Amino acid sequence: MAGIIDGKKIAQEIKDEVKAEIERDKLEACLAVIIVGEDPASQVYVKNKKTACEYCGIKSLSYELGADTPEAELVALIDKLNQDEKVDGILVQLPLPEHINEDNIIEAIDPAKDVDGFSRRSVGALSIGSEGFISCTPAGVIELLKRSGVDIAGKECVVMGRSNIVGKPMAMLMLRENATVTVVHSKTRHIEDICSRADILIVAIGKPKMITEEYVKDGAVVIDVGIHRVDPETNGGKKLCGDVDYDDVEPVASLITPVPGGVGPMTIAMLMKNVLIAARNR
Ligand code: GUN
Repeated sequence: MAGIIDGKKIAQEIKDEVKAEIERDKLEACLAVIIVGEDPASQVYVKNKKTACEYCGIKSLSYELGADTPEAELVALIDKLNQDEKVDGILVQLPLPEHINEDNIIEAIDPAKDVDGFSRRSVGALSIGSEGFISCTPAGVIELLKRSGVDIAGKECVVMGRSNIVGKPMAMLMLRENATVTVVHSKTRHIEDICSRADILIVAIGKPKMITEEYVKDGAVVIDVGIHRVDPETNGGKKLCGDVDYDDVEPVASLITPVPGGVGPMTIAMLMKNVLIAARNR
C-alpha cells in the first residue's frame, strides 16, 4: 500500500511561507493576469490564481479580453505591463484563441516578469542550469518529492510526455537533481518495459487512467500530472481522474499523488513563489 503525497497540504505550506515572507519584509508584489476569451476551464484557473494572490498578500491585476482581440492589441497590453514598475509578474492564461500565436505572446513578456517560466530565455536558463523562472507544474513536482522525503539523486526517473510546459522542463529539472532521466512519448517502443524500470515515474501524457500496474515497479514513487473530467457513473462516483489508474497502481507504489489533491494545487503555489522571487528581484 502506498503512502499518499498530499499536494493540497504541501501547497498550503508553500503559500503560507510566501505569505509570511511578504508580510515580514513588507514586499509589494503584484501579478497581472490576462485571459482572452471565455474558456470555462481557463476562467476557473484564473479565479484560483487570483484567490491565491489575495491569500498571500500579492496584488493581482485582472485583464479580461474578448475572444476576438487582435494579437497586436494583446502585445500592446503586455508592453504596457512590461514598462509598469509596479507589476512584478505577467501571466497570460493559455490556451489562446486560434488567431493568436502563443509563441509571439510568450516572447512578448519581459523575461524578468515571466513567472510562468515559458519563455525561450527561461527554458534555456533551466537547460544550462542558470538562474531563471521555472515552469510552475514541474517545479511543483520537485517540491512534492523533496517535501515527501524522496531522494532524487542517482534514481532512475522516467518522465512520460514531452510537452514544452511539463515533460521537457520536468526532465531537465530531474536531471538537475542528479536523477538518471528517460523521457518516453507516443512514438516510444517498449514503453511498459522502460516505465517499469523507474524508481520515480512522472506521468504527463494526457490520457485518462492509461497507467496501470504493469507500468510500475514495486515500490516506485508515482507522480500523476494528468487531470481529466470524467463521467462519475463509469469512474466509481468520482468526477475527476488522472493519467494513472490510481486503484490499480496504489497497491504496488511506495508513494503516489492522488487526483485531485496531488500535483494540481502545487502549480498555483509555485506561481506564488515565482511572483515573490520576481518582487524580490525588482
Ligand atoms: N494553461 C494551463 N496551465 C497553464 C499555466 O500553468 N500557465 C498558463 N499561463 N496557462 C496555463
